[in-house]
Amino acid sequence: MDQSIKAYIKQLVQEAVQHSPGLPGSLPTGRTQYVIANWKMNKTLQEMLDFLQQLKEGNGVEVVVCPPAPLLYPAKLYVQGQNKDIHIGAQNTHQEENGAYTGETAASLLKEIGCSHCIIGHSERRQYAQEDDATVNLKAKQALKRGLTPIICIGETLQQKQQNQTEKVLTTQMLGALEGIDASEVVFAYEPVWAIGTGESATAEEAQRIHAYIRAVLAHLDKENAEKVSILYGGSVNENNAKEFAAMTDIDGVLVGGASLKVDSFQKIIAAFAKGA
Ligand code: PGA
Repeated sequence: MDQSIKAYIKQLVQEAVQHSPGLPGSLPTGRTQYVIANWKMNKTLQEMLDFLQQLKEGNGVEVVVCPPAPLLYPAKLYVQGQNKDIHIGAQNTHQEENGAYTGETAASLLKEIGCSHCIIGHSERRQYAQEDDATVNLKAKQALKRGLTPIICIGETLQQKQQNQTEKVLTTQMLGALEGIDASEVVFAYEPVWAIGTGESATAEEAQRIHAYIRAVLAHLDKENAEKVSILYGGSVNENNAKEFAAMTDIDGVLVGGASLKVDSFQKIIAAFAKGA
């Protein structure tokens, strides 16, 4: 690894350790706590309506449901009609304003139909749609331009973790994603690729250590606002482990895949974060 990058990361790791020794947080951080459902390519229209009918509000937690694209508008109409404080988010958007991009969705349209958030750079999009950090950056910029809050996903693969590359990978992804962007306007989701859909989550202590590192990188970019940025954990979060993540100082919520498909499990995860909110 390049020596200057090594030194930079070493310094950030030290700062992260000083910032937070990985102990559970006792004081409210003032940061927005999120519990986000990423349904990926799952659920029918009727299944979504049944889910939203049963889903209760977040009690201080910002709840965002991200269904497949064709369900975004009916989802918004439903929660609006029921006067439920549930946000609707997209799983992806395109980086251009509009034009000849078959199959893509413009951020302006997502905003128009009532989306508030947009997941950007999920590892499945990095893997299956070849999205790189530059694309993530352009998409995040476009989302912000159109008034959507980008939820930027970062995370290392198992191989990168085994080669002790985690901090380097995260730093590269963050710097790439944030080029020309005010970090205080985005939400980060740390999603180790080895933990997604595998049933093998990071431990809460492990995630806390990485979140403190991410916050140290943010502090280097913008000292004033680093403490305000919500950093979520994602990867095999479920109703049993959510409380442990919620107890950590630098874990400001979760991005949930599999366990967000069942309303009971998802509601319990929300409850775990509502206590700390
Ligand atoms: P998982 O997915 O909860 O099923 O591991 C998380 C995600 O991909 O965001």
